[in-house]
Amino acid sequence: MKKLFALLIAALLWATLPAQVYASDKDVLTASIEEYYKSLPQAKRDYKIRPRPILIQGAMNIETDALVRSLKKPVVYRYDNYLFIAGTYRNYPIVISRTEQGLANAAASTILAIEKFNPIAVINQGTAGGSDPAVHVGDIVIGAKSIPSSAIYTQQSPAGAGVDYTAQEMRGVFAYDRVDETFKRRGEFYADKTLLELAKRVAADSTHEFTSVTGTIASADWWMSWVDYVNFLRERYGITASEMETVAVAQICHNVNIPFIGIRVISDNDINDEDYRFDISDRSQKFAMLLAERYILDVLRK
Ligand code: 5AD
Repeated sequence: MKKLFALLIAALLWATLPAQVYASDKDVLTASIEEYYKSLPQAKRDYKIRPRPILIQGAMNIETDALVRSLKKPVVYRYDNYLFIAGTYRNYPIVISRTEQGLANAAASTILAIEKFNPIAVINQGTAGGSDPAVHVGDIVIGAKSIPSSAIYTQQSPAGAGVDYTAQEMRGVFAYDRVDETFKRRGEFYADKTLLELAKRVAADSTHEFTSVTGTIASADWWMSWVDYVNFLRERYGITASEMETVAVAQICHNVNIPFIGIRVISDNDINDEDYRFDISDRSQKFAMLLAERYILDVLRK
C-alpha cells in the first residue's frame, strides 16, 4: 500500500514537471517551440481587432518564443507560410511575427503584416553580430539608424587585378520619397523619434540592468566573418552591429510611413573572439516588450 502511494506521488510529480528543454540544443528548442505554436488556437478568419496592434518581429523561433509566451490569448495566423501570433499585452493588441531570416523574408512578412494587421508601429528585434570592439555578447543595440550594407557600388577593376573592398560607395536601396512621389536611392533609414526616445528610457531604467548602446545596424544577406572587412565597415559607415533583417523592415516602414525601430542583442562578436550564443535572444525580446509597454502607456493611451 505504502509502495503504491509513493508511486502515485512520484507519477503526479513527474506529470507536473515542465517539459524538459535542452537550452544548449537549438534544434530541440526550436522543435518544442514549433509544437507550442501548433497547440495554440489557429485563426479561422482575418484579424479584425481594434485598436491597431503593435507589430514585434523576430526572424526565428528562438527570437519570438519569449514574446509569444508573454501574450494573453495568443491566436496563430499563417499567411503565405509566414507566421503571426496575435494577442494582448497590458490589454493592448500585439502581433508577434516570425519573419524568417534575411532581407527578402523580412520585407515580405512586413508588407503582409501591414496588409493583414494594420500595425500602428513596428519593432524589429533579434540577435546581431557586434561590429565594434566596444560591444559584447548580451549588449543591447538600439538602432537609431540602419543601412543596407551590401547595396554598394564597387569600383571597376580589370581581370586579375584582385579586389580592393575599400573602393566602394553606398548605392542604397530604392525607397519611396514623399516629396518627389517616386522611389529614389536611399542609403540610410532612421528610427522613429518617439520609439527611439522611449527605447533610450527603457535602457536607462536601472531596474532592468541592460547594457546598451544607441547605434547603427547594418543589414545584408551575409554572415560576415572577415574582421578586416567588419572594421572597414565600421570606419566607413559607423556601424555597431550586423545582421540580416532590420534595414529591409525599415525600408518598407519608410515607404508606407509607419513608425519603426530596430533593437538587437549582440549574440557574437568576431572582433573580440566572442562566439555565437543563441540563448541570448531572450534579452532583445524582453527589451522590445518593455519598449512596447512604454509605447502603450505613454503614447497610445495618452
Ligand atoms: N551576422 C549576420 N547575421 C547575424 N545574426 C546574428 N548574428 C549575426 C551575424 N554575425 C542574425 C541575423 C539572422 C540570423 C542568422 O541571426 O539577423 O536572422
